[in-house]
Amino acid sequence: MKRLTVPRIRQRKGGEPIVMLTAYTVRMAQLLDPHCDMLLVGDSLAQVIYGLPHTVGVTMDMMALHGAAVVRGSYHAAVIVDMPFGSYEGSPQQAFDNAARLLKETGAAAVKVEGGKVLAPTIEFLTQRGIPVMGHVGLTPQAVNILGGYGVRGKSEEEARSIVEDAVAVAQAGAFSIVIEGVLESIAIEITEKVACPTIGIGASAQCDGQVLVTDDMLGMFERVPKFVKRFGDMASVVNGAVKDYADEVRSRSFPTDDQIYAG
Ligand code: KIV
Ligand code: NA
Repeated sequence: MKRLTVPRIRQRKGGEPIVMLTAYTVRMAQLLDPHCDMLLVGDSLAQVIYGLPHTVGVTMDMMALHGAAVVRGSYHAAVIVDMPFGSYEGSPQQAFDNAARLLKETGAAAVKVEGGKVLAPTIEFLTQRGIPVMGHVGLTPQAVNILGGYGVRGKSEEEARSIVEDAVAVAQAGAFSIVIEGVLESIAIEITEKVACPTIGIGASAQCDGQVLVTDDMLGMFERVPKFVKRFGDMASVVNGAVKDYADEVRSRSFPTDDQIYAG
């Protein structure tokens, strides 16, 4: 199976919904790859992998190493790597240098940046120089220190308008698709109708051109998840059960058995 390319993703606007999940490690990438159009090496690895309080602490090295692992574990999906906080906001040149490093060191197809109008010149700069960019508007977790939390965005008329303008600016700057996170559904629908590139919703609307979730959230690895997460699995109890059985068998010396030892 040939790997999906950015132009083919772009062509999916208004067509069959795009399936996207996050991946950070090689084995999970292998398991997700057959079912997904895109794998996002999200900076959500801050919380999921590293136990950090938010994504602000993520480094370029983290994204490069996990991005490379996910590319090695996938054959079909387009792999997108999040640019970490502080690696792209300073200037288009800074963004280009760091995005180029991520593509070189991982083999990923594109990068994702959070932001709207302010980021448009940067998105244009990268796109014109061979780096496809996915946008991310609405609830942008890297701005947690400004926003003060992760509440739904766009409740006031003014904020709603500003989010739509952000998405339009990002699309016009050349983004090949845009994540819309944590906004009132009407905003997600309006953006999806207005922009020429596919929109990928998370806490947005089923009418977006695709959906993304944090894999560990949808697998049921965590006790607390945002409202927009549906748990498609209950991995925490699967792990709990297996590890409890292992511990019991070690303590009772019923593991290992003859099957697992080298007799002689
Ligand atoms: O980091 C991440 O996982 C993301 C998605 C939730 C869109 O940015
Ligand atoms: Na992210």
